[in-house]
Amino acid sequence: MMRKVRKAVFPVAGLGTRFLPATKAIPKEMLTVVDKPVIQYVVDEAREAGIEHFIFVTGRNKAVIEDHFDVQFELYDTLAQRGKSDQLSRLQRLQPSPGQTSFTRQQVPLGLGHAVWCARELVGDEPFALLLPDMIMQSEKSCMRDMVELYEQTGNNIIAVQECDPAEAHKYGIVGRGETTHTGFRITGMVEKPKPGTAPSNLYINGRYILQPEIFSILESQEKGAGNEIQLTDAMLRLEKRQPFYGYHYQGRTFDCGSPEGFIEANVAFALWRKDLNQGMAGVIRGLLDDYEPLLHRARG
Ligand code: UTP
Repeated sequence: MMRKVRKAVFPVAGLGTRFLPATKAIPKEMLTVVDKPVIQYVVDEAREAGIEHFIFVTGRNKAVIEDHFDVQFELYDTLAQRGKSDQLSRLQRLQPSPGQTSFTRQQVPLGLGHAVWCARELVGDEPFALLLPDMIMQSEKSCMRDMVELYEQTGNNIIAVQECDPAEAHKYGIVGRGETTHTGFRITGMVEKPKPGTAPSNLYINGRYILQPEIFSILESQEKGAGNEIQLTDAMLRLEKRQPFYGYHYQGRTFDCGSPEGFIEANVAFALWRKDLNQGMAGVIRGLLDDYEPLLHRARG
């Protein structure tokens, strides 16, 4: 019988060096896109997909993530006394229930594969969702929800992918595309950062996975790979020899909030997506483009 995907893992132990000095004391997952921290978008996506338990693999300087998902009695009480019921109910809607979250520490940032392995005891012997909190997504229906629906038809392992410019493929993990099945396709191989011109497709892995627990025993013996880190893709390649992997072609937008450009793009895109903000924001953006036109003109030469 197919086991339900009940748990999600969020690896948040990375150092965020691309975002220094902002991330010296603040975890990059706590930087805000409009008015929510990045990590909240990813947890909301998982919740919308029916996930019941949220597992965070954290590191030093990340304790504030745990505080963010805790009840803030004084704040809730003050909001209630001041009659700010809209703000209070929004906070309560986003609040996980007692016992719905778990936190473990990676201790040493040895790479994404190692961070995932650190969640093995908390996940146990069941399939799990893996969401990279750097990547946030925008679409009517959540990416993970579509993936869970595909999983319910195919079982095994699912990876979400999106198209990239073929000239950019060497920056990503790329999958090979096989036959179409249900709402997805069979993955025929994976390669992390292929050399220019060698990528099997332009479909890149966008940070959302459903994996079987067998990945943990593989990660246990996984050698260090690119960047001298334990790479998840290397372990998935070994698992792919034993179990099928299916691709889900996500059609929404993905923002890489681990880089300043992607983070700013996400802020603008989510402000434009919000009904209460988009008119004002559109005016602000047009005004800024007009003001900066001389500078942009000079930069274009
Ligand atoms: P990244 O390589 O994008 O994150 O890892 P990073 O190391 O934090 O960022 P830079 O490159 O130094 O700016 C992708 C995801 O894997 C997690 C990160 O937190 C991020 O969500 N990760 C990475 C870990 O949890 N542990 C690690 O050892 C490495």
